[in-house]
Amino acid sequence: MDKDGVKGERVEGGFRYSAGTQLVQVHPGWLPSRRVSACYQIVMLNFPSDVMTLVVRHYYCLRNRGGRSKRPMTEVSVTKDAVPMADDLVVLQNVNKHFGALHVLQDIDLTITRGEVVVVIGPSGSGKSTLCRTINRLESIDSGAISIDGKPLPAEGKALARLRADVGMVFQSFNLFAHKTVLENVTLGQLKVRKADKKAAEEKARALLDRVGVSTQADKYPAQLSGGQQQRVAIARALAMDPKVMLFDEPTSALDPEMINEVLEVMQQLARDGMTMIVVTHEMGFARSAANRVVFMADGRIVEEAVPDQFFSNPRSDRAKDFLSKILHH
Ligand SMILES: Nc1ncnc2c1ncn2[C@@H]1O[C@H](COP(=O)(O)OP(=O)(O)OP(=O)(O)O)[C@@H](O)[C@H]1O
Ligand SMILES: [Mg+2]
Repeated sequence: MDKDGVKGERVEGGFRYSAGTQLVQVHPGWLPSRRVSACYQIVMLNFPSDVMTLVVRHYYCLRNRGGRSKRPMTEVSVTKDAVPMADDLVVLQNVNKHFGALHVLQDIDLTITRGEVVVVIGPSGSGKSTLCRTINRLESIDSGAISIDGKPLPAEGKALARLRADVGMVFQSFNLFAHKTVLENVTLGQLKVRKADKKAAEEKARALLDRVGVSTQADKYPAQLSGGQQQRVAIARALAMDPKVMLFDEPTSALDPEMINEVLEVMQQLARDGMTMIVVTHEMGFARSAANRVVFMADGRIVEEAVPDQFFSNPRSDRAKDFLSKILHH
């Protein structure tokens, strides 16, 4: 039932897994509420007649994360006939992508649950950016399927524009419109794509600029802002579209060191507020404290995925071990 093919012993009413079994993803039908997802390590199991009880380590309360959110040894009760919930927000199935002869995404299967924060890491050229770009269809795919909130990604046209608006994206370089003020940057998409009323769009923009801590910069042009401020405006601009999921592609790697934290703090807060996030980053502190799951890519494949503690302290693959030894010791 999980990606690693970990099989439990069949017992009446389900499967019994031995303590310590690592499940990469519990089948959604097992989840009693939308608040549980990602990775679980089963610590104890028992099967009374009609209720299956999992005692899991690494339990995250996704809706109300407060600070470091781990609550070890939380009990989750699941009825045997729990109905599977359609709570998978971003689903990639067997996605393949080539650039000429280069097979840049290879058989990618990835499901991101609503409210989940997934950090994607891996060596340069492993396909992390391409993965992000396929999710809002800045890049097409050769085969496989991608859906957002149950809807397949449309190929083009208005449906694509609408769907793209559901996916907020923040890039490494600050892609703000240079000739528009900060306020205009944050209202533009609301007016054009969401057809919002101007006054309402501006009110919302100001509230978002306040939320990311740059409300006093509203009438300036991007070039008059620091990199950290520009990146926070880029986050506000993406949030203005009420995205269902936010993609971040190395949002802090072009920043001066003293500005990294101000951006990471905004992202941490977003995670605590329950935003579904896919974050490509080398900021391992962020991965440890905010991510529900780390996805490690190499050579266009997902090589390994695990909860951050597990991934950083006990990576399974040689590729991940090698990668971590390089980034953690330099
Ligand atoms: N438009 C393109 N045309 C041709 N090759 C491309 C294109 N975009 C990316 N590639 C190649 O695809 C591979 C994956 O690139 P990608 O940018 O997704 O990697 P990445 O994991 O994001 O790397 P980095 O950590 O350096 O950002 C690389 O070998 C890259 O050179
Ligand atoms: Mg990249």
